[in-house]
This record gives sequence, C-alpha cells and structure tokens, in this order.
Amino acid sequence: MTTNALTTVVSYPDRGTGGSNKYRGNCSPKLISDLIAHFGPHDICNYMCGSNTTGDAASSMGIASHTYDLHSGFDLLHCDIPERPQFIFWHPPYWDIIKYSDVMYRASDVQRRYGYDPRQFDLSRIPTWDAFVKAMNYCMMKQFCALEKGGRMAVLVGDIKKKGKLLSMLFELTKPGTLENVIIKVQHNCFSDHTAYGGKFIPIVHEYLLLLRKDMPLQFPLLMTYRMEGDIREMPGATWRDILADAMEGFQKAVHLERIYEQVGRSKRAQQQRHWREKVRQTLYYHPNVFFSPSQGLWMLKKYA
Ligand SMILES: C[S@@+](CC[C@H](N)C(=O)[O-])C[C@H]1O[C@@H](n2cnc3c(N)ncnc32)[C@H](O)[C@@H]1O
Repeated sequence: MTTNALTTVVSYPDRGTGGSNKYRGNCSPKLISDLIAHFGPHDICNYMCGSNTTGDAASSMGIASHTYDLHSGFDLLHCDIPERPQFIFWHPPYWDIIKYSDVMYRASDVQRRYGYDPRQFDLSRIPTWDAFVKAMNYCMMKQFCALEKGGRMAVLVGDIKKKGKLLSMLFELTKPGTLENVIIKVQHNCFSDHTAYGGKFIPIVHEYLLLLRKDMPLQFPLLMTYRMEGDIREMPGATWRDILADAMEGFQKAVHLERIYEQVGRSKRAQQQRHWREKVRQTLYYHPNVFFSPSQGLWMLKKYA
C-alpha cells in the first residue's frame, strides 16, 4: 500500500469505529489502520489489547490479528508470547492514571474464568513508579525478544504529572533495536480536558508513538535511562562561582569563610587545586553581583542580603 497518512504529528479528532470509546484509555483505530497501511504487515499482535481496537482495525484493513489482555486470560508478565510477531502494537497503562482490573472489568469474573486475580499482575495497579517502570521495561524487552528479524513494535505511551514532577514513560522506556521514529499523537477527549486547572499546571495533551525495528537478531543496540545523583562540585562544566553559589544556597545569612571551605574542601575540584582556599576567596571577590560580604571574613549570597 502506498498511502501515507503518518507524519511525525498525528491527530484523530474523530476516533473512528473499532474497539470501544467506553473503555478508558482506549486509542483510535485510525492510528492502527494508518500503521498497517504504512508498514503493510501480514498480521498484527497486541498483548494488552483492552477493548480490542487493534483486532477491529486489523479486520477493517483485511489482515489477521492476535490480541490478548489480562481480562481474557493472558498476563504479559508471566505468560509466554505465543507468536513470533512481525508487528506488535503495544499500548500499556499509563501507570495508575487509569486502573483496569476491577474497574474496567471485574476481578472476580477473571478469577472465575481464568483462575487468577488480575489485580496482582495489572501494570496499572503497581504501587510505585519505579516498580512500574521495571515491569514496563520487562514487558518491552519480552515483546522485543519475541519479534522476528525485521519485525517492528509501535509503542504508544504518555507522560504523567504528579506533584509538580513529570513521570515520563517516553524517557524511562527502554528502547531496544533501531529507533525509527517518535511520533507525537495529539490527545482528544482526554480526562484533563474536563478539569479546570488553577495555578501553573500545564495540561498534557499529547502522547508518543515510538517505532522500533529489530534489525539484528541475538545482539541489538539498547537505549536506556538510568537515574543517578549528581553533585555540582564534581561536574566538569561547573565553575568555581557555580560551586560556591550552590554551596551557599543552604545558608540564608552571612557565614564565616570556614563554613564555606567545609562545603567545598573535600571535593575533587578542591583537591586538584593546591591553593583552593585562595581560589575560593578570589571567586567570592570576583562576582560582587552574586556574593556579598557584610563584614571581614563573612560572606553570603547577595540575593539574601
Ligand atoms: C491502555 S489499555 C489498552 C487500550 C487499548 N489500546 C484500547 O484501545 O482499548 C492497557 C491494557 O493493559 C492491560 N494490562 C495491564 N496489565 C497487563 C498484564 N500484565 N498483561 C496483559 N494485559 C495487561 C489492561 O487490562 C488494559 O486493558
């Protein structure tokens, strides 16, 4: 097929038919149809299919689909992937923003039909962000491993804002293989549209669709995020002014030079410089716009003077 409805920004204000718009967090079947039209896979797999938007889009495009969900007996964390997929569409929960088991379907029904309580394996019920990221990345790698050579994954993820902090699925998702594209998908009819935000909150009105390709079997490139604690005193790009100003942020009043020496004396930066105390004093004098000395031997940040 030659139609190319995919660009790096996609928007489907009219959702289209397929799946269910009552299933919270559902996506537009038009996105999946556009992916099928663009890449022309002979079939498509989805291991967290929700209301089966993927299956319906595949039928409308005349290709086969293999779709599963926790609500119908398949837990991606513990079940083997039955196929060797050529194309996977994956739309995981955006952590706990929408809870699925026992909200969109009854846990007791799943227990009765399939013999397990879905709440214990549901990604949307994982209590902490870190544990969610770990489970998300386990699922990511499990699906990538199952792909055939040349196979693709299209992964739809969103960012979450909680208590002034962005929890970014885009950044924390492990990206195996060749990253082909990141497509911005404009969100329509999302929950935040109906919420009146006071203050400085910036509503999130888009999601990301990542396209990844498994070019090489067995060994493959991997892009992953890890978090660490940084220390300004050890940063190659930090100047002495930056280090001293940061060290003095904790003191909101004038302190003796000795207190400032204590903050920086043990850093690698100071240890690499024989005359670091002189350097500290020189820096304080050099930047009267940042540092202020109310009296001999006492220093503070000018903004607190
Ligand atoms: C964002 S929804 C998918 C919505 C779908 N794209 C649609 O249009 O309806 C995420 C789905 O992941 C399922 N899920 C959560 N944890 C799972 C797990 N461990 N294994 C399989 N499915 C899981 C939930 O039941 C939910 O249906």
